[in-house]
Amino acid sequence: MPDNTIVQDTRTGKNPEASKEMVPPDHLTIKDSRTNKEYPVPIQNGTIKAMDLRKIKVSDDDFGMMTYDPAFMNTASCQSKITFIDGDKGILRYRGYPIEQLAERCTYLEVAYLILHGELPTKTQLADWTHNITVHTLLHENVKKFMDGFNYDAHPMGMLISTLAALSTFYPESKNVHDAATRKHQIHRLIGKVPTIAAFAYRHHRGLPYVYPDNELSYPANFLSMLFKMTEKKYVVNPVIERALDILFILHADHEQNCGTNAMRSIGSSQADPFVSTAGAAAALYGPLHGGANEQVLRMLREIGSKDKVPEFVKRIKAGEGKLMGFGHRVYKNYDPRAKIIKETADKVFEVTGRNPQLEIATELERIALQDEYFMKRKLYPNVDFYSGIIYEALGFPTEAFTVLFAIPRTSGWLAQWEEMLLDPEQKIARPRQVYNGYDTRNFVPIEKR
Ligand code: ACO
Repeated sequence: MPDNTIVQDTRTGKNPEASKEMVPPDHLTIKDSRTNKEYPVPIQNGTIKAMDLRKIKVSDDDFGMMTYDPAFMNTASCQSKITFIDGDKGILRYRGYPIEQLAERCTYLEVAYLILHGELPTKTQLADWTHNITVHTLLHENVKKFMDGFNYDAHPMGMLISTLAALSTFYPESKNVHDAATRKHQIHRLIGKVPTIAAFAYRHHRGLPYVYPDNELSYPANFLSMLFKMTEKKYVVNPVIERALDILFILHADHEQNCGTNAMRSIGSSQADPFVSTAGAAAALYGPLHGGANEQVLRMLREIGSKDKVPEFVKRIKAGEGKLMGFGHRVYKNYDPRAKIIKETADKVFEVTGRNPQLEIATELERIALQDEYFMKRKLYPNVDFYSGIIYEALGFPTEAFTVLFAIPRTSGWLAQWEEMLLDPEQKIARPRQVYNGYDTRNFVPIEKR
């Protein structure tokens, strides 16, 4: 029997049948054709609560109506005050501040404070915050030994994910997720230690001795020192490169309910500690459709090889031979505002490092794709990963380290979202429903009869 459920939106004024007394002013009236019953469902913030649909039943023992939304295409899983995105207009704001202003005027640590606390820090707050992060940059020597156990060619993301999870065993008090002071302590630890783990992973990969943190340096400069310092007493950072890395960190700090953040919230909702939750979020980020795309962009550009091969490559993509990495986004149906800022930053970096030859191919790829019917029709624009890899390469990072560079700043976003989830009285352990479409009951068949 076909379901002919009729839904009317009262906000449009086209619902003369709805009861005026019992129902809130903004609601949907859902008429179930199976029973002919009408259900007013309240509308709040342009959404209805999926749980309000459960009262729609054909009989008392009916479970009730659910929504079916694979990949969360149209489901809000939380209320949040952290990040706002308007994907059609290409707008991104942290706590109300446009990303362009933050990228121009702030440091990453200032932005991390904003994301986690809701307000920009005063001078004193920023000094305290910076101090609290900086005193947590060292790793326990046993963590270092743990990292030594990885094979020489271990992927830095695999090392980062595992080491983040391993930190849980060093700080068992972190399980006390309902204590605000304990949470704060782990937040300082995680933001402080992530660059050190990332740098150690890189040095291990290169067979180089680890460089311990230099707490006199800024957050990005210390990271660069841990990566690239050789025998000199003090690593001298080029200020253009230091600032470029800080801007990249700002741009990657948060991006509302993406795959990695959703993993963070979901794992954290079981009250797992923040180290294992962050490890899970980083694992989600690692995938090539998410943060792993920056690595894939560079591989793709190398595969194309030269500017004149771009039209042929685009033809293959349109024929269904893979995806144009660094293009397209679930939310942005316009130019990703972060990609714009990265492109501008790239120009400044190239003045110091010299032009990355991949840039020419990338620019040509963008030019051709943006005027191609296939990409225009599907609203596919460059995303944050399209140009970030080109800068990372110019800064001297190996391709395998790119996603790690994404994970470092995203840690502050994950932690802000994790804390917001824990403090939200509407949140519980995340546990989606399913539509079961497997076998009905059947009797066991002994092995000799199968
Ligand atoms: N190249 C070619 N075609 C694409 C691309 C692409 N990069 N992205 C989407 N399309 C096509 C799809 O094939 C689909 O076409 P169809 O309607 O003919 O079937 C249409 O555009 C819609 O795409 P979906 O896959 O439905 O979009 P979705 O929102 O599920 O996926 C995603 C978004 C995963 C980002 C996708 O665009 C993609 O795979 N891009 C390449 C990987 C990438 O750059 N990921 C980084 C995203 S940013 C980040 O996570 C930090």
